[in-house]
Amino acid sequence: MKNLSVLLTAFLLTMNLTAQINKINIIPKPQEIKVLDGNFIINSSTRILFDDKTEMIAKYFADEVEGLYELKLKFDKSSGKPVDNFIELRLAKLDYSSNKEAYHLNIAKDRILITANEPNGIFYGIQSLRQLLPVEKDLKNKKELTLPAVDIKDFPRFVHRGLNLDCCRHFMEKDFVKRYIDLLAYHKMNVLHWHLTEDQAWRIEIKKYPELTEIGAFRKYDDGTVYGGFYTQEEIKEVVEYAASRFITVIPEIELPGHSTAAIATYPHLSCTGGPFDVGTLWGIYKDIYCAGNEETFTFLEDVLSEVIELFPSTYIHIGGDEAPKDRWKECAKCQQRIKDEGLTDEHELQSYFITRMERFLNSKGRQIIGWDEILEGGLAPGATVQSWRGTKGAIEAAKMGHDVIVSPTSHCYFDYPIETTDVPKVYSFDPVPPELDAEEVKHVLGTEGNMWTEYAPQEEIDDRLFPRLLAFSEVAWTYPAEKDYEPFRLRMQQHYKRLDCLGVEYGLESKPFELIPTYNQFSRSFLIQVDILQKDLSVYVISKHKGPMMSNPLGVTRFNFGLTESDEIKFQFSKGGKVLAKSYIRNFSINKATGSKVVLTYPYSERFTGGGDNALTDGVRGTSNYRDGSWQGFGMTDFEAIVDLESVTDINKITVGFFTASSSLVVFPEYVEYFVSDDKENFKSVGKVSKEFSLRDPTWLSEDFSLELSNTSGRYVKMFAKNPLTVPDWHPAAGGKVWLMVDEIVIE
Ligand code: ACM
Ligand code: ZN
Repeated sequence: MKNLSVLLTAFLLTMNLTAQINKINIIPKPQEIKVLDGNFIINSSTRILFDDKTEMIAKYFADEVEGLYELKLKFDKSSGKPVDNFIELRLAKLDYSSNKEAYHLNIAKDRILITANEPNGIFYGIQSLRQLLPVEKDLKNKKELTLPAVDIKDFPRFVHRGLNLDCCRHFMEKDFVKRYIDLLAYHKMNVLHWHLTEDQAWRIEIKKYPELTEIGAFRKYDDGTVYGGFYTQEEIKEVVEYAASRFITVIPEIELPGHSTAAIATYPHLSCTGGPFDVGTLWGIYKDIYCAGNEETFTFLEDVLSEVIELFPSTYIHIGGDEAPKDRWKECAKCQQRIKDEGLTDEHELQSYFITRMERFLNSKGRQIIGWDEILEGGLAPGATVQSWRGTKGAIEAAKMGHDVIVSPTSHCYFDYPIETTDVPKVYSFDPVPPELDAEEVKHVLGTEGNMWTEYAPQEEIDDRLFPRLLAFSEVAWTYPAEKDYEPFRLRMQQHYKRLDCLGVEYGLESKPFELIPTYNQFSRSFLIQVDILQKDLSVYVISKHKGPMMSNPLGVTRFNFGLTESDEIKFQFSKGGKVLAKSYIRNFSINKATGSKVVLTYPYSERFTGGGDNALTDGVRGTSNYRDGSWQGFGMTDFEAIVDLESVTDINKITVGFFTASSSLVVFPEYVEYFVSDDKENFKSVGKVSKEFSLRDPTWLSEDFSLELSNTSGRYVKMFAKNPLTVPDWHPAAGGKVWLMVDEIVIE
């Protein structure tokens, strides 16, 4: 009996604790949380107490509370300490951490006390406090805000917790960048890595070289469209100051020697060949880069960096260094002369010379450089910090050489990658400290960065890519591994969505949303499509283009089926906690004379792009808008030829084959497609050819039907031949590359 009562008491205590801890859903998770009895209530009489060093933070908090709840707090430095109902920001030495970002947040019934070694810590105490404020509906005009009593002791694992925003491939408005500064601060991140120069744009005004933004900030497409924008120095100062007020350091990235097409399009004499060049319109790696043998290159870059350091007080300046092909340097007399004069062995050492020279310049101005891991090749500049992106190898090598590192491998930290490859659990599982490092070497790991490259993400899609992945990432950067556990994090994230809603964040999915398993029935000529929902707590709505909404899963149900008796375009919409996500998926199903028919290929498909195997081209499931999604069948450097057996002589009114083009890749439409019919599989008669006008310089990814309308045509066998253009043309960044045809689906009507 006694045992039972002990058990029961323990159980009730646990339940109580769980219920209370569920009120505390702070992301990133603090190091230590003790839930206390009772509540503190903020009302219009609540005073904020601060001193000179924390006044800005007090105002910031008051503004946030007023903005969200229309509740004005009192703050008045001179009025002496009240006995209760106050929020005190107190700078004092913490006994458990000397970290400048550490804080102690204690919420009692009569007052809230945030103690920290430095204002940075006070600011993070305020962020935790903000994440404890109520988020139920009708926030406006709240008279009282109830906060749970709690004691939180917290400090970060890493000093460098960053996000790289590529504002070049797609431009982000100044206010959008400031909004991200707020979102980063809310999740206790402290670095904005601002990617400002690229092949496709130069986005920072340089007074000495005004043409950089007059010409280099805008790219022109074949159809006459111009895309661009830039930040004036005044706007940059505004952003940097705004970030500083949120304890975020802005580190500018000025790319060299590669990814510099916008600069050399403006000043072609800074290249090896003299150009001319256009500002890049395609994504990829451009071969024309700054000439390393030309002194004017260095004069130019030193002038540019001199203005850059006036705008950015950060210790670090990111100089890029990634993806700089050496093709032009190999053929350039000046570059080769430089190699001779400097006693270098090859073009990699020439790159090292280039980077080291820029480092020396920046060091002379009191700054340090960060470069991508390619700067290891040919010898690392003496004081450089390495940002490892091609896995963690670069970070390991650099740390073992005694250099500081930022660890941000594509595998876990690239949020431009689709959620299917880099989902929230995977991001959460990341540990920025490579296990290969010993205790001394680990000290060189400054931290990590998420990367938001924007080739395929215009500003309006950034939220979808970054959220909720950035929640997991903020915990990777802040919280120690011993405190990390995915499922409790996932539950906190579910609560956190309401806070993101308040902040207007259009978050996307946590993982691949579903697996579709279509079964085609030859006799009834219909599909039964099974939907297995892979993301927990996700509602999936099936909407037919022809029939409208068809069905959705009841709460908690993770598998359902729907049927199709005719070709249809199905939109899958998602909702979380009653809110429909901005992102939806479209899938096309085709029921036609070829569906389920046997296909014989003359040239085999690539093992890299099977499209799902031998039946992929007539499975009735059409390839999606992403040729890498597994639904497309790929043919590298071969033509495509297929024969479809319709099993009996059949009337044929239209033949279609779908192809893909993606100018930033090696995937290109065929030169033409020719169609043939036969009754006996021996004698084929050509019935027509189709080709498409398209602009390879258009960066969009495009799938198109190559369709041929027919009359009075019949046959049992239909053959299609698509001509592979084989080589990528000269003006393409991948010039000379081997062309892939991507095929899906064969449709015969
Ligand atoms: C990179 O993604 N090229 C650093
Ligand atoms: Zn050169």
